[in-house]
Amino acid sequence: TDITAIRSALLQWYSTVHDSRNMPWRKRYDPTLGREGRAQRAYEVWISEIMLQQTQVATVIPYYNRWIEKFPTIRDLAIASIDEVNALWKGLGYYSRASRLLTGAQKAVSDHTGRLPDNAKDLQAHIPGIGRYSAGAISSIAYGENAPVLDGNVTRLLSRLLALHASPKAKTTLDILWAAAAAMVDGLDSTLASTNESAQYPGDINQALIELGSTVCKVRDPNCTGCPLRLWCAANTNMKAPTPMAVTDI
Ligand code: ADE
Repeated sequence: TDITAIRSALLQWYSTVHDSRNMPWRKRYDPTLGREGRAQRAYEVWISEIMLQQTQVATVIPYYNRWIEKFPTIRDLAIASIDEVNALWKGLGYYSRASRLLTGAQKAVSDHTGRLPDNAKDLQAHIPGIGRYSAGAISSIAYGENAPVLDGNVTRLLSRLLALHASPKAKTTLDILWAAAAAMVDGLDSTLASTNESAQYPGDINQALIELGSTVCKVRDPNCTGCPLRLWCAANTNMKAPTPMAVTDI
């Protein structure tokens, strides 16, 4: 089916680019890690995703590394002072992100025995500062859950793929986009991954979508000829002019 072919093309492309980006938080779900190890990975992904919300990858990398050095585990973060946290955040901007990380860590330690919940629903419901996007990113990448992500990049990519001529902010459009993002990861089984070389991980699919949206399916001048999804892309197919028509303002 289309979705299987789309995933394969996406992951094939991702495997050719992702090493070169060298992101320290880019580790994948590992069923052999055990509960504690997966929760540790969830902590690391959480920090990176919050930093990446309003800041570019290249800027985030040194901040991320300093943060993990200072607060290697969620318990180290939970006992930090807001001044220590803000000092490490200095220069990243949007300081409320830092204080929400602190509050979130305190809640995880006091109410969840120091482990971030292992699914998107509970992450969003119980940890302050984790919204639908971060919940999907953390649970898919660290825990292997088939949870979707939809950020600005994925919104633009999917809007073009489906040639949605609709405001990406309208509730009805958002429902369509979340459903499309969910279809990308639906039915995958991460537990097969250790025994099956060609297993597809939801966390990889999600990160590939984010990366494709930010580096190829760009706001202006999308590189359609370099896009692994061009064969299925309605905007690319419809387009006879040099720029795709859907959603260019995100
Ligand atoms: N932006 C937000 N999350 C990201 C991720 N996991 N990888 C690269 N860029 C991102």
